[in-house]
Order: sequence, then structure tokens, then C-alpha cells
Amino acid sequence: MLKASSRALVAFVSVDNMMRLVHHIGIATFIADLARNITEDFAKWDQFDKTPRVGSHSDVGVIELMPTSDGVLYGFKYVNGHPKNMGEGLQTVTAFGVLSDVYSGYPLLLTEMTLLTALRTAAMTAVATKHLAAPGATTMAMIGNGAQSEFQCLAVKAVCGISHVRLYDLDPAATAKCARNLDGLGLHVTQCASPEEAIEGAQVITTATADKDMQTILTDNMVGAGVHINAIGGDCPGKTELHRDIVARAHIFVEYPPQTRIEGEIQQMPADHPVTELWQVITGQTQGRRSAAEVTLFDGVGFAIEDFSALRYVDDRIKDTPYYVDLDLIADPDDPRDLFGMLKRAR
Ligand SMILES: NC(=O)c1ccc[n+]([C@@H]2O[C@H](COP(=O)([O-])OP(=O)(O)OC[C@H]3O[C@@H](n4cnc5c(N)ncnc54)[C@H](O)[C@@H]3O)[C@@H](O)[C@H]2O)c1
Repeated sequence: MLKASSRALVAFVSVDNMMRLVHHIGIATFIADLARNITEDFAKWDQFDKTPRVGSHSDVGVIELMPTSDGVLYGFKYVNGHPKNMGEGLQTVTAFGVLSDVYSGYPLLLTEMTLLTALRTAAMTAVATKHLAAPGATTMAMIGNGAQSEFQCLAVKAVCGISHVRLYDLDPAATAKCARNLDGLGLHVTQCASPEEAIEGAQVITTATADKDMQTILTDNMVGAGVHINAIGGDCPGKTELHRDIVARAHIFVEYPPQTRIEGEIQQMPADHPVTELWQVITGQTQGRRSAAEVTLFDGVGFAIEDFSALRYVDDRIKDTPYYVDLDLIADPDDPRDLFGMLKRAR
């Protein structure tokens, strides 16, 4: 007799359980583990299905789907970006995601990804910084002190050994919030009153601002020789953070060029502007930083493989823990052909 499969029950990780899982593992360890998973997945780049994410744009924001597969597992994330939300007491970015078994097509995991996106974005920045920043970098300027910022600071501490962060936001209350949250977590934190003050002595600059517009968070004269920039807030058509002159003189590294050319800082440049794919640096196929004086730019927009890395990490780590529940998500009659009979008998 045919039996309903245990696969009909899908592991579900709520926001509450995600927070418990992160604390169970430790925030820094969690981010460092995600950085390791991202590095592993970028190293097998050729095995993944790749497509620019599918965005549905409105005047106030974007809702996107981000799918990928390595042939064994399939993952996708639903994510939005609404810069005006913060002023209405809502998150700019929210997300959830699914991991599935390619062989059966059955989902394995449904999880919150708002927190997980912040953690994986920070881990991605740390991977880029580790490969591209000048050796021995100790200080990062963090411009934009919203929801992503503390995660960004902790990631470069955990993965790259950054010990000092210099914070700046248009809104001093955001900077004060970020400094308060970082208190006691082992970083020297300086609150700054201008972007110029924030970048003083910083070998790494990370921008994570939110505006549905072409912003100029950094101008060319602000960026000195040898600096590494992570520009992660410019991640949509018409939404950038850096003056074009910085982009023009930087050695640019990207996740997936077809997506970054639409969404990243390089949307300001001609379609054939040279970029280096980060996975090639990670695998040693291409050089990263070429000299101590070079300005390197990670034009990070967030790519589906990073979410895949995070999804498979969560799927792996929840096993044998109380940090998930089984969801009755998949209709799975004993006789696979008797879907109607299952419905009829349920009356
Ligand atoms: N690349 C990625 O993978 C990725 C992932 C997640 C989020 N993001 C992007 O990162 C950005 C930040 O996300 P968030 O969730 O922290 O948003 P948020 O709304 O919580 O915070 C953004 C902060 O930027 C500040 N800001 C706006 N303009 C500024 C300016 N000119 N100078 C200094 N500060 C300024 C705001 O005051 C706010 O505190 C968003 O644009 C988001 O879309 C990118």
C-alpha cells in the first residue's frame, strides 16, 4: 500500500526560532559559518543555475524573486526593498525563502529570511573584504546605520579582523542606535557627524544607505589610495550610492555581472565597463587587489547563490534542534493519483 511521505511535512523556521538558532550558535560564529558556505558555493560557481533576479518595480519600491539551484538543491528568496518603509515604522527589506529537493521537487525548508538576509549580506561583505582589502586593515567606516549596519560591522570583525568602526548616518539617532547595539561586542566604535569624519583613517568603507534615487554618499575626492569600498545599498535600477568618478577609477568586483549591470553602481557605466567576478578571485583564477594603492570596489547587490548558501546552512543546523516546526504544507495523498479522494474524504 502507498503511504504518505514524511516529506509532506516541511520544516518551518519562524522569526522567533531564527533568533533562538542564531543565539544558540552565536552571532559571530553564525556569520563566519555563512561566509564559509558562501565561499564554498562561489567556488563551485559553474554548477549553479544563474539568472538576474526577477523584480516587480513600483514608484515606492521593488519586490523580487531570487532563484538558483546546484542540481541537488533548489532555493529561492522573496525579498522587497522599500526605502520609504522606515519612515512608516516598517522594515525597508523583508524576506522569506524556500529550499527544495531537486530530485522530488518537494520543499525541505520554509524560513524567515529578513534576519537571515542581514546575516548573509554581512557575511558576503566580509568575504569580499577579506579577499580585496589591504592586508592588515583595522578600521571600517560604516555609512548608513540602519537595519543592516550592526550585522555589517560584526561580520568584518569576525571574518576580517576589523577592530574599529566609524559610524555615520544622515540621522544621528540611527548612528546612536547602531553604537548602542554594538556596545560590548568587542569593537571600538566612533560616532561621526559627517561622512568625511567617518572615513578618516578607514582602510575599508561600507555604504548601506537606503534611498530610491541616485545618491552620492561618497565623492571621488573623499576616497584615498588603497581603500576598499563595499557599496551594498545601491541594488536597484536608478538606486546608486557612489559618484561615477569613483566607479570609473576603481577596480570593480561583482557577484553576477548580468544582474549587477542592471542594479549595481556599474549601471552608471557603459555596458562593457570592465568588472571582475568575485568567484574567480575566490578560486584563485584571477587576481584581486593588484597594488597597495589601488581602490577596490565590491559592487554588492545580493545574488541568489548567497541566499542558497544561507538556506542550506539553516537546513543543516536546525536538525536535532527545537528551532523549527513541521508544517503541513504539501498535499500528499497516500495514493499520489488520488488527490481528489483525499479532499473528498476530508469533509
Ligand atoms: N546588497 C545586498 O545584498 C543588500 C542586502 C540587504 C539590503 N541592501 C540594501 O542596503 C540598504 C540599507 O538597508 P537597511 O535595511 O539597513 O535600510 P534602513 O532603511 O534600515 O537604513 C538605511 C539608513 O540609511 C540612512 N541614509 C539614507 N541616506 C543617507 C545618506 N545620504 N547618508 C547617510 N545615511 C543615509 C538612513 O537614515 C537609514 O538609517 C538598502 O538600500 C537595501 O536595499 C542590500
